Amino acid sequence: MRLGHFYDRVTSLGYGGDYNPEQWGADVHAEDTGLMREAGVNLVTLGIFSWARTEPAPGTYDFTWLDGHMDRLAEAGVAVSLATMTASPPPWLTRLHPEILPVLEDGTRLYPGSRQHWCPSSPVYRRHAVRLTERLATRYGTHPALALWHIGNEYGCHISRHCHCEVSAAAFRAWLRTRYGTVEALDEAWSTDFWSQRYGTFEEVHTPRTAPSFRNPAQQLDYWRFSSDELLACCLAEKEVLTRVTPDVPVTTNFVPVAKTLDLFAWAPHLDVVAYDSYPDPHDPDALQRTAFSYDVMRGLKGGRPWLLLEQAPGAVNWRERNGRKPPGRMRLDSWQAVAHGADSVLFFQWRQSRGGAEKFHSAMVPHGGRATRIFREVAELGAELAGHPELLGAAPERADAALLLDWPSWWALELDAHPSADLRLLDAALAHHKPLYDASVACDVVPVDAELTGYRLLLVPNLYSVTNETAQRLGAYVRQGGTLVMSYFSGITDEHDRVHLGGYPAPFRELLGLRVEEFDPRPDGTWAEEVHLEGAEPVTSFPGGGPAVTRHPYGEGTAWYLATRPPPEEMRDLVDRVRAECGVSPTLPDLPEGVQARTRVTASGTRVHVVLDPQNLSVTLRKTPPRPP
Ligand code: GAL
Repeated sequence: MRLGHFYDRVTSLGYGGDYNPEQWGADVHAEDTGLMREAGVNLVTLGIFSWARTEPAPGTYDFTWLDGHMDRLAEAGVAVSLATMTASPPPWLTRLHPEILPVLEDGTRLYPGSRQHWCPSSPVYRRHAVRLTERLATRYGTHPALALWHIGNEYGCHISRHCHCEVSAAAFRAWLRTRYGTVEALDEAWSTDFWSQRYGTFEEVHTPRTAPSFRNPAQQLDYWRFSSDELLACCLAEKEVLTRVTPDVPVTTNFVPVAKTLDLFAWAPHLDVVAYDSYPDPHDPDALQRTAFSYDVMRGLKGGRPWLLLEQAPGAVNWRERNGRKPPGRMRLDSWQAVAHGADSVLFFQWRQSRGGAEKFHSAMVPHGGRATRIFREVAELGAELAGHPELLGAAPERADAALLLDWPSWWALELDAHPSADLRLLDAALAHHKPLYDASVACDVVPVDAELTGYRLLLVPNLYSVTNETAQRLGAYVRQGGTLVMSYFSGITDEHDRVHLGGYPAPFRELLGLRVEEFDPRPDGTWAEEVHLEGAEPVTSFPGGGPAVTRHPYGEGTAWYLATRPPPEEMRDLVDRVRAECGVSPTLPDLPEGVQARTRVTASGTRVHVVLDPQNLSVTLRKTPPRPP
């Protein structure tokens, strides 16, 4: 198990940040070593944006600068998550190969000058990225500082996540050939008899570029799948080299705050450990819940295993309209929240605040003001505190009784254009379902459609718009065997090609839910309504003008609830509380005051460590209870 290598080198919760020493001189490096010791830093990510410095000309490498930092960090007892440096190609590469620059759907080619300016399908980019990766792996594979490989950086985080150049179009066609075999099968799946789109050969197919009106939804949906797969292929090309040259060193890549771009359930199995970057807005009253949700997703990506927090901000970011600082204590609360939800590390962007460049107003562990700053003081205090809990490293996050189902392809399909309402947003729906659990300090796992559902008392299914018959049958079996399911509006509408399941909405769930939906009726004020005909379900609440809004249907040993509406938050809370009471899903600890959160990790010796977070008072306490009786 490659992860063992990481835990050999990082022996208490990982603490540190992105380290960019190339932006500084030797005097600062010497100071860094001392300040890292003072702050309790034991893990840094090195080299994320260092391609231009490390390969200053094609095939010419300069590792001398990096050798020194790797040795210095090893001596200081700081482990390194070493980046493959491929997130941002050097200027010479785009000068020699401008064809690697990504193209937007309207044909605009993006220029270099920021970062992540490469086409995911470009063989030239991949060849150069893999070549550099191989050199790094060969040079540092046995270095005592190396704990982990950090592949790329935040795949898909900018508009270059999709590319529409000719190379991408050819790659899309190849991907479609593999998926469909024949163009007739593609025509069938894409419903191309609509609007005279029937293709005679794969050569006629393009990426969905800017067009006069709505583009083919199945084409758009496949293009989302393809784009996620192409980025994954870039990551895997580097991973192949790393695992060949350094078979014992684990690999990861850091995911962007839960985003639509990548099908993370498809990505996660390829990584040794899931890693995440979290940037809650300190001015957003719902920030902690949103963050809790994203941490629940990260934990869910590998079936409940610990994950790494590789970036967060110690204070303000620099990329919102207004970038509020974190008040005293907030950084500590945010950090412990991550640990509570399963993180094995608390890392920041970045170690030292840049002097120049686009991120100089982004906070860092060592601010422009240096050591004598509140942020550095809090950073050092937190480092000491986390170091005092080595038992939490690798401690298993306790499995929740409730789960929420998330599916990226359905998310992509739900938010396509030309739907009954433009207000259908999966993340909003997921957060609205998660919030009543969060507010009551009820733990919630996030699971994919093919998850093992046995053992979950409650399953929330927000807007599962697109669903295969197989998934529908699995959800039916879950309820028949005693589970409680809460499904919300506009679910079970189309198949994996965005073709409607015929026979009355939501056809694959009619029997399970005991109802039929005849029409959708979204209102100008953004509310959602459906005309529901009961076929065995009982009405729980009704729309003001009549007709069931929320229904309940005993099915087999379990119960299926349906929300034909998007209830306001108080009604949603009452409803979820009632469902929880029925199926016996309780808060993580029985005696928590209003607003206080607790999440539990189970140490190697079986002790349950409850991390108790009080956002109101920005306080964090740990409670320990003995192992649960078997
Ligand atoms: C992340 C990125 C970092 C830094 C940070 C600023 O998305 O990985 O390199 O830009 O944002 O918040």
